[in-house]
This record gives sequence, C-alpha cells and structure tokens, in this order.
Amino acid sequence: MTGEAVYVDDILVNEQLLVGRVVYSPHAHARIKSFDLTKAKQLPGVHAVLCHKDIPGHNQMGPVVKDELCLAVDEVTFVGQAMFLIAAEHEDQCVEAERLVSVEYELREAILEIETAIEKNNLLGPVRTIERGNVEGALRSAPHVIKGELRTGAQEHWYLESQVCLCIPGEGREINVFSSTQHPSETQALIAELLGIGKHEVVVEVRRMGGAFGGKETQANHTACWTALLCWATRRPVKIRLFRDDDMKITGKRHRFLSQYEVGFDDEGVLSAAKFDLNSDGGATVDLSMAIMERAKLHVDNAYYVPNMSVTGRVWKTNLPSNTAFRGFGGPQGMAVIETVIDRIARYLKKDPAEIRFKNFYGLDTNDVTHYGEVVENNRLFLIYHQLMQSSEYQKRRKAVNEFNASYEFYKKGLAITPVKFGISFTTSFLNQAGALVNVYKDGTILVNHGGTEMGQGLHTKIQQVAAAVFGVSLERVKVNATNTSKVPNTSATAASAGTDLNGMAVKHAIDILKSRIAEAIAQVFTEKHPASPSLQDSVIFQDDYIIDEKHPERKIAFADAMPLMQLRQVSLSATGFYRTPDIGWDKEKGHGRPFHYYAFGMAVTEVLLDVLTGHHTILRTDILHDVGDSLNPGIDIGQIEGGYIQGVGWCTTEEIKWDDKGNLMTHSPDTYKIPSVQDIPRDFRTALLQGVPNPNTIRKSKAVAEPPLMLALSAWLAIKDAVSAAAQHEFEPEFSLPATNEVILLSIEKLKQKTSERVTEDVGAKPPLVSSK
Ligand code: MTE
Ligand code: MOS
Repeated sequence: MTGEAVYVDDILVNEQLLVGRVVYSPHAHARIKSFDLTKAKQLPGVHAVLCHKDIPGHNQMGPVVKDELCLAVDEVTFVGQAMFLIAAEHEDQCVEAERLVSVEYELREAILEIETAIEKNNLLGPVRTIERGNVEGALRSAPHVIKGELRTGAQEHWYLESQVCLCIPGEGREINVFSSTQHPSETQALIAELLGIGKHEVVVEVRRMGGAFGGKETQANHTACWTALLCWATRRPVKIRLFRDDDMKITGKRHRFLSQYEVGFDDEGVLSAAKFDLNSDGGATVDLSMAIMERAKLHVDNAYYVPNMSVTGRVWKTNLPSNTAFRGFGGPQGMAVIETVIDRIARYLKKDPAEIRFKNFYGLDTNDVTHYGEVVENNRLFLIYHQLMQSSEYQKRRKAVNEFNASYEFYKKGLAITPVKFGISFTTSFLNQAGALVNVYKDGTILVNHGGTEMGQGLHTKIQQVAAAVFGVSLERVKVNATNTSKVPNTSATAASAGTDLNGMAVKHAIDILKSRIAEAIAQVFTEKHPASPSLQDSVIFQDDYIIDEKHPERKIAFADAMPLMQLRQVSLSATGFYRTPDIGWDKEKGHGRPFHYYAFGMAVTEVLLDVLTGHHTILRTDILHDVGDSLNPGIDIGQIEGGYIQGVGWCTTEEIKWDDKGNLMTHSPDTYKIPSVQDIPRDFRTALLQGVPNPNTIRKSKAVAEPPLMLALSAWLAIKDAVSAAAQHEFEPEFSLPATNEVILLSIEKLKQKTSERVTEDVGAKPPLVSSK
C-alpha cells in the first residue's frame, strides 16, 4: 500500500547485474535436429548463451519425479519448454540474441486434449481407487440413478508479481538466491543438484512474494534454476523476471478435469451410492499432479455422506506445460462434481437443492466416516447451515426470486447455498513438519525465523502475533525475518493452507524453550534478593512486557531489562523449535487412513441476476459463514475468505483458458483472460466468522483459512445454473459446465428453449437428460 515492501525486483543490485532470458520451445512436440548458438554468443553485451551441455550437475528440476529437464536435450514436449538461456547487459540485447539462435526441428504429433490422451492410454502415473461398500450393488438397488459428465476448466494463477529470481555469486561456490518461491528448501535443493554443489553453498531467501496461489509451489523453481545457471556461468549477479505473457505461456495452470459420475438415491434425495471417475490433464510432466488428483479424490464427497462409494483418479499426459498446484489443490475439481450431482438430484425431484444438501450432510454421531476412513470430528455443518440459512434469509429470498422470475422474461435470478468441508494437512504425511529459530537480543527485541513464506496471506503477521502472545510481549518487540534456508533448513512448502498451523507451532516450541531458560535464571535473580522465600521457575510468568513471579507479584522485571542480565548469566537466548502434526497417517496405496489433522468448514449463499439475452450475470449478494476456529486475526481471515471466494468466482465464471490446435496458449494476457475485477464483487457482500468454535490441538485454537473459501464460489456457479433453469421455468435441466462463461450460459439457454419448443410441438414428457427411474 505504501510502496515500502521490497519484492525481488526491488532489491538494489550493483552495475554488474545482468538480465537473464529463457528461450523456449515454439512447438508442442518436436525433435531437436540441431541448433546453433554461435551468432547469438558473438553479439556485443551478451555474456552467456547456454544449452543443456553447459549444466555442471544434473539437468533436472522435477520436484517429486525427476522427469523435468532444466534445458531441453533432443526433444521438446510443450510450447514454453526451456531450451537455452541468455544473459546480457540489457533486455534488448537478450531479445536480439534470441533472434540469432537457430534451431532445426522435426515436428511430432502432439496430444492436446484429455480425450486424446485417454484414447492413446497416455497415463502420467499410477491409477488409484478409493472404495467403500458395495457400489455396484447399491447402484442396482437404488430407486433412482443419475449419470453424467462434468468438465471443469483450467485456471491461471495471475499472481501480480510474475516469476522472478535474482542470484548473486558469493565466495568460492557460494550462491545467494532471492527467489519468489513458496518452497525455498526445494529451490535450494534443485539449484544445488543443477550446479553439482552442496546445499550448504546455496542460500535461498524469500522476503515476500507478490502473490503465488500455488503457482510458485514448484514452478518458481524453474526461473530460479535458470537464473542460478546463468549466474554460475557468468560469475555476475543475474536476474530473470518473466514478462506476463511469457509467464502465462510457460507455467502450468490449475488442472482441467473431465469427470464421470453415476449415483443412486431414494425418493427423498438421500444418496446411497456413488461412482466417480476423475480424469485430469497433467501436462507434460508429473509435477504435483498425483497429489492434486489424490486431494480431488479425498474431496469428491465434499460435505456429504455416501455409504457406498468409489472414486478412481487418472492423470493424463499431454503436450502442454505441466499443470500444478492452485489454491484448493484438486479439492475444487472434486467438489464441483458432487455439487453438480446434488443439484441434479434436486432438479430431478423438483426440490430445493438446499434441502437435498442438508439431508446428505455428514452426521454428528452417525454417518460420520468418510469414504477413506477418517471420522468427521467436530462437524460444524449443521451449526453453519442453520445460522446461515437464517442470517441470509434464504427461504424468504427463495420466494422473492421465484416471484421475480415469474414477472420478468429477459432477466432471471438464481439462488444457491453450497458447503465446504476441506481437510487440513499435506496428504503426503511426512511433509507436515516445520522448524523455527528464535533469537532474543540484549535490547529485548526478538527476531523470529520460521520456514513459512509470505505471499500476501498474512502468515508473518499471524506468526508475529503468536510470538508476541506466547512471549507475553508487545507486537513491536517482535520482527519476523525473511525466510532463509540458512536459518531454518529442510522445510516443506508453504502450502496446503497449513502455514500458520505448522510454523506457528514450531515458533511456539522455540519460545517455550527460551521461556523456560529465562524463567529459571530470573527465578534465581529474584531468589538472590529474597533468599528467605525463594522464587520458583514454575511460578515465573511472561506478561505485558514483564517477567513476573506469580506467587510474589511485586517481584517483577521489565522484559527488556532482563535480557542484559541473561547475557551476564550466560543464558543462551537463541533456540530452535520444531513441530510435526500428531495423529495423522495415510496409506495412498490402500486409500485408507487419517490424512487430515482436522477439517475446515464453511458455507455460502449466492444470489445472481442473469441477463437472458446476453448471458451476462451480476452477483447481487453473497453471505458467507466460515469456520476458522478462534481467529488469530479476523481482518486477515475475512480477507482470505473474501479473496478466496472471488478467486473461485473467477474460476467458475469468466476465467477461460484456450489453446489452439498446435498447443499455443491463446489466452496469455489480461485482454483475453478475464479475472474478476471490482465490478465482479457481489453488490452486497456479507462475510462472517463462525463464533465460539475453538479448534482443539492447534496453535491458539485457530484453524487454517487459506484455500477452503475458494470452493464457496460453487454457490455462484450453481446460482447461475438456477437462473438459467428459471429461463425455461425449471421444466428441463440445463446442460452446464465450468466455467459458466456467457457462451456456456447462452448455449445452455438456447438448448432449453429448443426443448421447450419441441415439447410444445411433440408433447414429449419433461425428462431431464441421462436420468433413469426404476
Ligand atoms: N493469499 C494471498 N493473498 N496470496 C496468495 O498467494 N495463496 C493461497 C492462500 N492465500 C495466497 C493466499 C494458497 S494456494 C495457500 S496454500 C495459502 O495461502 C498458503 O498460506 P498459508 O498456509 O499460510 O495460509
Ligand atoms: Mo496452495 S495450492 O497449497 O499453494
């Protein structure tokens, strides 16, 4: 806001700085027959033009599976794949040098659609199923069965700060890396392996990112590796900052999904069986695709109990940039399927979808085990549902919407409530760990280092609050340092919404250690003054910037005055902390276990107004009630909830990614890719935090907030579907996909009108497609 925040591109560097540029493949699939870099290297101002042969260590930057080359060798498998690197004194010299690079290709067939990958059986990894009960039997005996297919689209992260890295050579083999990465330890590891040096030579520092949203969990590594290689080759500081269009073309997106479902239910709309087949477009390499598919499978139930259920996930390999983490991490794609199912059941039974949702919620004491065996503890669904239905005046507004729709032909309103139940923890269980290093200085100031990174989600503010509260001091006394791999090593990515949960606990652990050391010494100080009635370590407390003997409150010393005494008495004022999430465990082969420490819950009611002639929609009002346990910072939490919802609205409505038939991204700038703007914010936006719900066994009884609210946007998507359905008096069910762009909406309305006119002429019964009743 004030322009004071320092991002990577703002770091002051001397005149030695070189500009780096990546030369990437213009083809989706081709063999590299030959290339010639001679002319490019001769250009004045150019300091390096590198190819794969110039890599001193491993030519690899795959985060989980080593299937991702840093620089292409003899083949390129997507448009945007890095082939060569250039470092020059000025940007225009880089551009000029790139023109002088010559390459001969032999084009190969490219797979650009999930369907084509399925036809060719081009899988990216193992196929896994999670199953409970007897699905086939339950489907056979169900009174009603619905089948269908749902497409959900890709999504561009659109972090405001594009991928960027600055590398500065140190002494000997040392390299200092300033990267906009969610995962400094992985960036460090990949650079070390690429350069063939020890990790102790590589320091990665992250002050903050200008937004990430999952797009910098693994894919910041690419820009960092390229920059490091140029820095290594030139022994000069080098910076690469991707242009927006390049960033959009060469980095992966949210995975698009093509999902099939078949569900059985009774006359009341209660689900008895569900079979799901989820297919995702993984892109050219594995990246995080397997974990993302896993989370989709673990969230295809959303908030609903399905006694007999199976879900199979297949990740398909295509010739597109590798798709990657994006807020929700597969959760949104899974939930969109069951929310469609519930909506279809309601339309089929001619009931309000809110009622069907309520009937299928996980129970408080019964029907409370998920398809993968975890018990839904501390279920807040009913609490939230009842409060939100009331505060949003859902029933009254449902009537008003119906009345409005009866009196307007070219405008229709729609209303929907959708829940979110989101599991908190990395599903790769060992990743649920964090470290911290807390230093207290002689003047009583405190410097907190932890493994998490700041990307705008407010993690450092929450950590500062946690540290101040645990130490019983004022906020100003505590500073949270830039994340640095030399302070806290071997960290996990800041992801899975668990940043505060994990790092907050690690910081608390370090501070608890410091407090016990200080308390022991202070008890001695007090005792020396009052030898007749000794102070005990256990009765020393830290409060309001003082250290006090609780039993003798007149014995107290200001925190800042106590620290010099600690140095005199040779007490260490530096401590590391560590945390690992207890009681979780997940067997991905068996598809069974307790992957999540707990669940976050929330619900949203969205009302939209649809212009039937143009497909344009406006969100009139959104009411959200979300569970964050005891909020560490209501301002940040509400910001995350509103931001998450709006980001989800973008995915559900206007954000549409298109490639041409050669695998070129066509929507690579803001003029063709529409993210939500201020115009798209609900006219009336009411967000509230569920009160009186402390979360057991977490840092200060709080709950993660970051990702779950994104999925609340499904209420906007289904409110639009509701309005579309109203355009044909709810007689037929609209065909619908995600995002519901104006085009999708208009086509859907067009099809409904055709059906209405066919019925008028042929008098055919009003049966929604693909539904069978027995
Ligand atoms: N909020 C802002 N402003 N910017 C971001 O990049 N990333 C989201 C979420 N909220 C993001 C954000 C994602 S994908 C995750 S996983 C979490 O923040 C990570 O931070 P946390 O675990 O500390 O909540
Ligand atoms: Mo968030 S998608 O877990 O970085």
